[in-house]
Amino acid sequence: MIIAVDGPTASGKGTIARGLGKHFGLPVLDTGLLYRAVGLQARKMGLDPDDPMDAARATEFPDMLLKEPELRTVACGALASRVSVHKRVRAALLERQRKFAAQPGGAILDGRDIGTVIAPDAEVKLFVTASLEARARRRHAESHSRGEKLTLDQVMDDLAKRDERDRNRAEAPLLQAEDALLLDNSDMTPAEALQAAIDAVEQAMAGK
Ligand code: DC
Repeated sequence: MIIAVDGPTASGKGTIARGLGKHFGLPVLDTGLLYRAVGLQARKMGLDPDDPMDAARATEFPDMLLKEPELRTVACGALASRVSVHKRVRAALLERQRKFAAQPGGAILDGRDIGTVIAPDAEVKLFVTASLEARARRRHAESHSRGEKLTLDQVMDDLAKRDERDRNRAEAPLLQAEDALLLDNSDMTPAEALQAAIDAVEQAMAGK
């Protein structure tokens, strides 16, 4: 069973994907981390994240980079969004994601294009979203607890920019797959959102 969990930045898709992984005993890949690693590697190597060739070179990052806490910062998220528009970057990361999805016991992947490009045949597709305000509040609290000094306005501005870039890029834009179930968790607690996702997966599996 493959479960695709897509959605915009700070929608809670990562928390839901990890919760589903625990509940159903499936491995989870946070595909955003791969793009974040490319962004961080570009910065470390002094490469231009907006240049397609430079960004493509940064896809050869060492696996160790995936463990760096810095990947979770707002700044790395913005870099990830910039490198992710390039076709070569997306192509370089494709195989790794497909391999993960093809594990015999099944897998959960969360990202932007899992249900549309990486695993279009996934048994279950969720499109997780929340209002810009709700997402900004969550991301602000999270960045604050990590010691990043950003105002709520700055976080909201960053999210709006990332939404715009992720939705409007030519390659694999953020898009709800036709057969994906919409899960808007603006007014839910994380526990309620996870329960709604578990119910959705169980219903989808019962219908197969
Ligand atoms: O999910 P995240 O915030 O960690 O993702 C960071 C950026 O990476 C996001 O703004 C766009 C890009 N991304 C992508 O293009 N495709 C994915 N499957 C996952 C992330």
